[in-house]
Amino acid sequence: MSVSRGGFSSRMGFILAAAGSAVGLGNIWGFPTQTASNGGAAFVLVYLVLAFSLAYPAFMAELLIGRYGQANAVSSMQKMSRNLGQKRFAFLVGFGGIICASLILSFYGILAGWMMSFAIEPVTQLLGLTDTATWLTTQSMSRDLLFTSLFMMLTIAIIRRGVEQGIEKWSKRLMPMLIGLLILLIIYVFTLDGSKEGFKAYLNPDISRVFEPNLLISALGQAFFSLSLGTSVMIIYGSYISKKENLVTLGAQVTLIDVSIAFLAGLLIIPSMYVAQSQGVAIFADDGSLISGPNLVFDVLPSLFNGMGAIGLFVGFGFFILMSIAALTSSISMLEGPVSFAVERHNLERKNATTLIGLGILALSTLIIFNFTTLFGMVISISTVYGQPLIAMLCCIFVGWIWHRSAVLTEIKEGNDTVEHSIFWKIWPWYTKFVCPSAIAIVFWHSL
Ligand code: PFF
Repeated sequence: MSVSRGGFSSRMGFILAAAGSAVGLGNIWGFPTQTASNGGAAFVLVYLVLAFSLAYPAFMAELLIGRYGQANAVSSMQKMSRNLGQKRFAFLVGFGGIICASLILSFYGILAGWMMSFAIEPVTQLLGLTDTATWLTTQSMSRDLLFTSLFMMLTIAIIRRGVEQGIEKWSKRLMPMLIGLLILLIIYVFTLDGSKEGFKAYLNPDISRVFEPNLLISALGQAFFSLSLGTSVMIIYGSYISKKENLVTLGAQVTLIDVSIAFLAGLLIIPSMYVAQSQGVAIFADDGSLISGPNLVFDVLPSLFNGMGAIGLFVGFGFFILMSIAALTSSISMLEGPVSFAVERHNLERKNATTLIGLGILALSTLIIFNFTTLFGMVISISTVYGQPLIAMLCCIFVGWIWHRSAVLTEIKEGNDTVEHSIFWKIWPWYTKFVCPSAIAIVFWHSL
């Protein structure tokens, strides 16, 4: 770990930062929404299988590229290239990931801004500021501009401080808070009428739906988004891990945390929907399916919180603060991708690079806010439906086909002497070479 570029000071620091990147709106907003729209427990089951069997191997490929290269995504991949063609390919993949992370941040900042405004709303209710409360929960340009800017300022402020003082310190503070709040909310919902039926819908899979193509595609997309793959983020986080660490276990631990939190978020949201139903809120669409879509969290949950009386204000505050924290530990990782590239390749000073790039992305968010109907969905599709799977697939191809197998082994052996004889080494190289790229290609093909 080179001192001048910074790095995680401890194993826990890395785990919490990488899990902080992985755990975000994708887990707490995306996963339950997808679960509701894809038949409940069957989706949960497929997601769990795909997260470990496909997303984890691809995640390992990205972490290894970074730790080997000890640099931003482009330089790391170029370090393992042996000729000009490969170097150009490396640039394309690395830089593509950086652009993808920036695009994701431009819409993610808007969503995170909504979470922040919904978190403040209960406070204004308590203070009797009814007009402000209505403004905070009604979509408008002024609200979106204000809260997206606030959220981006927070992201910039953390990344300006660097890896150890910024990313690591804040992930260590925010992640335990997030997990604690989530568990408290689940326990609370468990005590409410109607929640048992929700737990059943969430945990009892309809096996006949498991092989539905749309369900498989959504589950794989969700798993890739959730582990922040195809964005250069895990490459750069990998580059900040010490060579003494065992990457195979660290990667598995982060995957486990990510999947568990998505699972917990579902355990909160799906039963909450049934509690809301018992309070008179409609949760089923005309065709009998659970209401889902982007507004799930913003419609159903506030009705649930309102039905709780005065305590609902505190629960609502807690929940949306939780969402804002989860979003922040992810957004900092997205900004780190382009910042590390600008600092290492163009010799920009870290603080200036962070402010400049952060404001550039905020300008893009502003453009989206002004042209919301056309641009919001489009940027989401370009970056998450096309960009992420494509770049993640190219990273697997890079590791499987361009990087020498013996060099890969040498890198994995750092911090893990016995890996050569483990099942991981028997399966993973072959998996990354053939299974991951083909599976991602099939999903990509379907999404086209
Ligand atoms: N993994 C984050 C989530 O689940 O919300 C989203 C994300 C973070 C995507 C970082 C891409 C990224 F580079």
